[in-house]
Amino acid sequence: MTVTLPVQQALAPRVARPRRYLLCRPEHFAVTYAINPWMDPTAPVDAARAVAQWEGLRDAYVALGHRVDVLEPVLGLPDMVFAANGGTVVGGRALAASFAFPERQPEAAAYAQWLADAGFGPVGTTDAVNEGEGDFLLVGDLLLAGTGFRTERAAHAQAQELLGVPVVSLQLVDPRYYHLDTALAVLDDETVAYYPGAFSEGSRRALERLFPDAVLASAHDASVLGLNAVSDGRHVVLAAAATRLQEQLAARGFVPVPVDLSELLKAGGGAKCCTLELRGATA
Ligand code: ARG
Repeated sequence: MTVTLPVQQALAPRVARPRRYLLCRPEHFAVTYAINPWMDPTAPVDAARAVAQWEGLRDAYVALGHRVDVLEPVLGLPDMVFAANGGTVVGGRALAASFAFPERQPEAAAYAQWLADAGFGPVGTTDAVNEGEGDFLLVGDLLLAGTGFRTERAAHAQAQELLGVPVVSLQLVDPRYYHLDTALAVLDDETVAYYPGAFSEGSRRALERLFPDAVLASAHDASVLGLNAVSDGRHVVLAAAATRLQEQLAARGFVPVPVDLSELLKAGGGAKCCTLELRGATA
């Protein structure tokens, strides 16, 4: 008789930290232009379904004990649901976005105004293009900064000056992963998950040095935007279709919280794209 003993993996205790998120209801969501390879203006989009899916995301955050603030959507700005792109907020300081494409540029003022009114002022901005937390992801005391498709490298240096956080630039090379948050997820202050194929060789090597224990996502899980995930340090809200990634996270002691945002995926966005983290002076 052979007895197979289960491999006992020592799981690090994962601790959730309550978060504050800014979201924007996709009331005026549509795909009317194409600024990334996911967007097909001829394909039908169900706005009511997008709202219902978004409500599922909001409810998941509330159920996890997070504070959710909501920004008023503006008619004629169909991508405004992607709140992550509205800015970057670290230590109570806010950097407003400066969008690459004219279609999204008017969103910047709406987000900047909301942040100022909420007490995150004075709100800084960059001359160079920066698409907020789409390309700036805080891991502990480091701000990982993507470039290649949207945020310009010059904005990385400006973000370091304005936010006072050391910046590490990473080069994106695959147009499907046009924002850093489509290719890399921050799981806690020292752990990330990413899809190596989205990065240049040098940036891959930099990531290997910084995060030797990173979770490496498969091409499939990346292609359903599984890495466009939001973690509170324990619970990881991510695309339900990223099944293998959910197993990988569970094996590392995280608790996957699957959500279906298939309508928003038609614009190239997922859970993280819809979520701007508001970090106060102590966070
Ligand atoms: N359609 C939007 C754009 O291309 C999607 C933005 C997704 N946001 C994100 N943080 N990746 O700008």
